[in-house]
Amino acid sequence: MNLLNQIMERAKANPQRIVLPEGTELRTLKAADIILKNKAARLILIGDENEIQTLAITYNLQHIAQAEIIDPERCSKMETYSGLLYELRKSKGMTIEEAGKLAKNPLYLACLMIKNGDADGELAGARNTTGDVLRPAFQIVKTKPGISVVSGAFLMFTPTPQYGENGLLIFADCAVNPNPSAKELAEIAISSAETARAIAGFDPKIAMLSFSTKGSAKHELVDKVVEATLLAKQMNPLLQIEGELQADAALVPEIGKSKAPGSAIAGHANVLVFPDLQSGNIGYKMVERFSGTQAVGPILQGMAAPINDLSRGCSVEDIVNMIAITANQAMISKL
Ligand code: ACO
Repeated sequence: MNLLNQIMERAKANPQRIVLPEGTELRTLKAADIILKNKAARLILIGDENEIQTLAITYNLQHIAQAEIIDPERCSKMETYSGLLYELRKSKGMTIEEAGKLAKNPLYLACLMIKNGDADGELAGARNTTGDVLRPAFQIVKTKPGISVVSGAFLMFTPTPQYGENGLLIFADCAVNPNPSAKELAEIAISSAETARAIAGFDPKIAMLSFSTKGSAKHELVDKVVEATLLAKQMNPLLQIEGELQADAALVPEIGKSKAPGSAIAGHANVLVFPDLQSGNIGYKMVERFSGTQAVGPILQGMAAPINDLSRGCSVEDIVNMIAITANQAMISKL
């Protein structure tokens, strides 16, 4: 069974409450219908109930009736949610009036439901930008203990079985942090290792990527990757991590051996940590386009509860996969 099927089966075995704030977005509704048909999650759709029901009838989405629908204008718990938001953000200058207004924003409401224990995870982004999805998540759900930055990883199902785990690799951070510090890069490595174990199901061998391998070039950008590698080892001495490595030294055994002799990771990496968001975002998109790789994500890692962001160009299949991944993360975050 391929990994995405395994993830779906795990979701079915223990259905989680996943909130979809873009409940009137058609691809999201079509994906929700498939998830409900498969009983892979208990879904909460945020949006106007009439609009959701009309879309469900128009597109013959027969399972949408099983979802809970929360209309922000009629939500019985709105006072609780706006009070919660006010408590969380008053030190940042938010007023009660602002909290009351913002809590009705579906992207805020979804995070408030998670914070209040009314949902286990969230998926959005088919209609909203990454920044708009992430900001309420950062402000309300925040990071898990020991991690200060949320980052975004992709499962890269490449057609090149000689690399990674039979062609499967994790790339991070490709979605969130434009210019991470050395400590943040170290945290991204640690979070990516967890994603490798928990979602991809393999033992992480992490390469901290650079344009230099083990001192072949001198530059402050290289120093940052070296420092990040050391910090990650300090944070988790059991981590299998090597840096700094060029991509070829990370992936190709002969090149790894010649450029980083003695390294157990060089040439065998299955988790690639990019030095910044420009290289990570460009890198994953290039691999995806040039090689016919299926890129699944971004899987947001490091958050106290799972919240994932879709690309606005996503397909129904992408949304189905990401709901199942969010449900898997929700199960893990409760352990
Ligand atoms: N992890 C955790 N918390 C964070 C992070 C992070 N990575 N970044 C910011 N925060 C927190 C801050 O600490 C702050 O919290 P506070 O208000 O409680 O003090 C809050 O979020 C807002 O911080 P700002 O610095 O004001 O963040 P801003 O809203 O300006 O930006 C954002 C955050 C939107 C994520 C920004 O970093 C961003 O735009 N990143 C790039 C996203 C993107 O465009 N990705 C590419 C597209 S995705 C794709 O192609 C797959």
